[in-house]
Amino acid sequence: MNGPSLKTALPGPKAAAIIERDGRVVSTSYTRDYPLVMARGEGAWVEDVDGNVFLDCTAGIAVTATGHSHPDVVKAIVDQAGKFLHMSGTDFYYEPQVQLGEELSAIAPMPGPHRSFFGNSGTEANEAAIKLARYYTKRPGIIAFFGSFHGRTMGSLSLTASKLTQRRGFGPFIPGVYHAPYANCYRCPVGNRPETCAAECLRFIEEQLLMHVVAPEDVAAIVVEPIQGEGGYVVPPNVFMQRLREITTQHGMLLVVDEVQSGMGRTGKMFAIEHTGVQPDVVTMAKGIASGLPLGVATARSEIISWPPGTHASTFGGNPVSCAASLATIKLLRESLIKNAEVVGAHLLEGAKALMEKHRIIGDVRGRGLMIGLELVRDRQTKERATKERDAVVRGCFSRGLLVLGAGQNAIRLSPPLVLTKQQADTALEILDQALSAIGRG
Ligand SMILES: Cc1ncc(COP(=O)(O)O)c(C=O)c1O
Repeated sequence: MNGPSLKTALPGPKAAAIIERDGRVVSTSYTRDYPLVMARGEGAWVEDVDGNVFLDCTAGIAVTATGHSHPDVVKAIVDQAGKFLHMSGTDFYYEPQVQLGEELSAIAPMPGPHRSFFGNSGTEANEAAIKLARYYTKRPGIIAFFGSFHGRTMGSLSLTASKLTQRRGFGPFIPGVYHAPYANCYRCPVGNRPETCAAECLRFIEEQLLMHVVAPEDVAAIVVEPIQGEGGYVVPPNVFMQRLREITTQHGMLLVVDEVQSGMGRTGKMFAIEHTGVQPDVVTMAKGIASGLPLGVATARSEIISWPPGTHASTFGGNPVSCAASLATIKLLRESLIKNAEVVGAHLLEGAKALMEKHRIIGDVRGRGLMIGLELVRDRQTKERATKERDAVVRGCFSRGLLVLGAGQNAIRLSPPLVLTKQQADTALEILDQALSAIGRG
């Protein structure tokens, strides 16, 4: 497969017919930014049902870490599927789950021994972390951050504070959740400059929340994304995570890092938290962990995750086929793809920064590895959010054969499979350049 190559108007006739059927039977809550109907994929290429080929800089929301249908991952899935599909790790034992537990212990960003809880998605990984933190500390409170996304089931959704539409109409949420400002240096919540940042935004936690609203000994955990994903690909300074570690240690709270989007090699290290030198107590994973098969994991130090049988479990969690896909994925990440994310990511970031000189609508470019965000603004001084323009660029990329997604109110996210080549990165930049030029803001 090679491309980009567009053969029909978009959507093509077959895609249009499927979308029409979808409209009658599939939940209207899904967010489809443009009419892509996938037929097959290979590496960073996606072919739609009409034979159009796109370069994929979404990886299905940062999931297909090893590229679409990597042969090693497919083989692991087929081999395991031929043996057995399910036996519930909740009630029985099977080796792939044990092997994955061992592997996760080897890569965890904090000293062991560790244990892992297996679910099926990012939100389940975070539900497990929330329950674990409450159970272990015997405290009810959880601190999370504005702009964060942790999932859409009731526990995780109570922490999520990204787009209002995700919360509107669904309350009341679980009690005991408090939100604090995230260190978004482009829009510093306390008006500081990145050069002199000492994570002053965390004073809100120390001098407001923990002084006036909730006693430190009532807080079980601080849950944080090391890089905000859905919130706009926001990279906080390292001092932010370091201060969070200090605050949690000082008050006996757990530090839970949600690596659902930023983990599994995407940032050029196995976990984004590793860029900061901070060791968390619990790490949650999903998305890229099994290259597209459903799997969510919460890994913690064994001392913390020692809850008795029956306290938490899942029928499907840690499905043997997903575990096999994950083992093959992690092997590929360790062998070459984390390095590729670092090298090609640096190239893509540099190229995206160069686009800033040509397109004044790009207010900020940030990222680590192949987790890159471009924030679009109507005016670089006022930083007025260019939301409509962002949406137009996303659609403009699609109409030129490049798949990208929005993030936050006005950012474009680049989260390609970690197999992306420099040449493919250049193709992505060229198309982005054209789509930005086409919206006519120069
Ligand atoms: C950081 C983060 N946490 C949790 C989730 C929820 O994952 P899932 O959609 O698999 O439940 C997401 C999904 O985008 C995410 O980006």
